[in-house]
Amino acid sequence: LRSSLIARIDAADTPDAVEALRVEALGKQGAVTALLKSLGAMSADERQTAGPAIHSLRESVTAAIGARKAALDRALLDARLAAETLDMTLPVDAGTPGSVHPVSQVMDELAEIFADMGFAVATGPEIEDDWHNFTALNIPETHPARAMHDTFYCDGPSTGDDGARMVLRTHTSPVQIRTMMTQKPPIRIIAPGRVYRSDSDATHTPMFHQIEGLVIDKGITLGHLKWTLETFLKAFFERDDIVLRLRSSYFPFTEPSVEVDVGYSMVKGKRVIGGAEGWMEVLGSGMVHRKVIANCGLDPDEWQGFAFGTGVDRLAMLKYGMDDLRAFFDGDLRWLRHYGFAA
Ligand code: PHE
Repeated sequence: LRSSLIARIDAADTPDAVEALRVEALGKQGAVTALLKSLGAMSADERQTAGPAIHSLRESVTAAIGARKAALDRALLDARLAAETLDMTLPVDAGTPGSVHPVSQVMDELAEIFADMGFAVATGPEIEDDWHNFTALNIPETHPARAMHDTFYCDGPSTGDDGARMVLRTHTSPVQIRTMMTQKPPIRIIAPGRVYRSDSDATHTPMFHQIEGLVIDKGITLGHLKWTLETFLKAFFERDDIVLRLRSSYFPFTEPSVEVDVGYSMVKGKRVIGGAEGWMEVLGSGMVHRKVIANCGLDPDEWQGFAFGTGVDRLAMLKYGMDDLRAFFDGDLRWLRHYGFAA
């Protein structure tokens, strides 16, 4: 039985044939199984000689089946490897390449322009606590500026230190606070990122992008602010005829505060940045309020500085002549192609 079984196993040429032989020999009704069962009916003497012989038969049949299966699997794999060759020299379909979103491109561009002026990039959380978003920026609980921000408040238990509700940051200004609390002056940073306000029309989306700038050093004046903004806007709009107008304004965290208008001229019925036929507001800014500097643990008699904030999406619209802010977030390829931002 042993030699005939093993000969047939070695001759089996498919995994199914090997499996059939396994059932025939070792299955419930199998020949080897029957021999094992017959041990029970034998006398002790018979069992002493037959037992080891039958067990060794079972072992060698099991080993033969295992070896044959492995050999067949290997052969199958070899055959597949031989058959499935890949031609690595075949040209591939390039598909449609992705592209960097205009807002991301503008943010990269801004980071580059400011890097040339010695500004580092700082970041902060989009889910911000009330203290960083408001209180530390000299916007106390009862301040009307809070209502102006159309704040999204977060549900659930607060994790802010002062027990107040967390908010989706309404501006990038809390990054000023985080930077002053963790870095020793002199400080020169920009903070680009997403901000949130409950507002939606052609020029407002509930999520938009701002870029914040902050300089803290000794003897900083409005003159430094004006030079910085002029240099930045000239580089961004790639024009030398950029004219700025600083208008007195109010922000709780700057004193004095100025709103910055940039001059435009009309070219074929369209507003183009440069010249001074009309004015467009592009930035909020001012000298960092003494209270804000003190809130961050710095001595306002020793350190002064300026800050500014502006909408990245708005800057992109002005530069590329786009007219609907909402289109930025629709992900419509036709729109991206129209403005040359996608292939
Ligand atoms: N945070 C202000 C806003 O969102 C902009 C600003 C930043 C103004 C820094 C002054 C200084 O409108």
